[in-house]
Amino acid sequence: MEKVISGIRPTGNLHLGNYFGAVKSFVRMQKEFNCMFFIADWHSLTTHPKPENIRQSVKTILAEYLACGIDPEVAPLYVQSDVKEVLELYLYLNMNAYLGELERVTSFKEKVRKQPDNVNAGLLTYPSLMAADILVHKADKVPVGKDQEQNMEMARLFARRFNRIYEVEYFKEPESYHFTNKAIKVPGLDGSGKMGKSEGNAIYLVDDEATIKKKVMRAVTDSGPTMLNQEKPEAIKNLFTLLELVSDKQTYDYFDDQYNNMTIRYGDLKKQLASDINAFCAPIRERILDFQQNEEYLQKVIRMGAQAASESAAKTIQEVRQIVGFR
Ligand code: ADP
Ligand code: TRP
Repeated sequence: MEKVISGIRPTGNLHLGNYFGAVKSFVRMQKEFNCMFFIADWHSLTTHPKPENIRQSVKTILAEYLACGIDPEVAPLYVQSDVKEVLELYLYLNMNAYLGELERVTSFKEKVRKQPDNVNAGLLTYPSLMAADILVHKADKVPVGKDQEQNMEMARLFARRFNRIYEVEYFKEPESYHFTNKAIKVPGLDGSGKMGKSEGNAIYLVDDEATIKKKVMRAVTDSGPTMLNQEKPEAIKNLFTLLELVSDKQTYDYFDDQYNNMTIRYGDLKKQLASDINAFCAPIRERILDFQQNEEYLQKVIRMGAQAASESAAKTIQEVRQIVGFR
């Protein structure tokens, strides 16, 4: 059976972008493939979080993964730092990763711009650590959002390069996977760009009804369509994209028609959107709160996950050591 791996950095709560871009695929894939999902706590060190924040965020995201429907009996859930084999592969991959290509990665360039006084080597080698996460399990498919495409290309490049250098056909090139068949980008509520933690425009799965409503009602709009059937400007398109994700088709079509015949009232659209987002989040929110109370169960989940992931990774590392020239 094909292997699937994916992870998310523990840097806060999961938002709708994380859910529709990645976690929804995780939940759907777990029955069909041999899946493992993890919490990328080593990756989160690139921005120097406080130890207590890491501990808290790992616990939070674990409860959120479970609340979204990942079944740890079917798809092991582990914490990246519990699987030391990843670091060994990271080292081997780094020996054949070049400064020029790493510097050209868009997300690296972005970080250089955003945090010029913390351009550390971990940030530079983020793609090789991510490749190690994937290749250590020899995964076939990796469910991620659109913004991870370049990191995925790097993972394929490192896999090919390893095979070429050692004249083996050992690593497969992992492919990105999206349940909708195309990479999705969930927009934010501020008129442009994607929904993201650092963008400050996110609706979190744990947000309560009042918070969701407040955020949606504040979303950027314009003064309304001025022509029949005109193309929607980005901010409006974003609201419709969100509506498409959380509402039924009838509701979407209703507002789409209203936009096209210029009778739309954005206030009504927003109220509906807020209500549908809340209907979507409410059951997940309740489960998150329940799982967070159950410390013992959370510990058990990551113990099981660590064992499954370490077994899979140890096998690869043993073979890789042979290939590279170690005992
Ligand atoms: P953030 O941008 O909030 O920091 P991450 O970079 O930690 O989120 O992303 C975790 C996962 O969620 C990745 O697979 C990423 O592709 C996906 N993801 C994050 N934001 C979005 C979005 N707005 N649309 C689609 N997928 C997203
Ligand atoms: N880079 C991913 C993100 O920001 C997280 C990640 C780390 C990951 N290692 C991975 C995703 C391996 C998929 C596979 O969301």
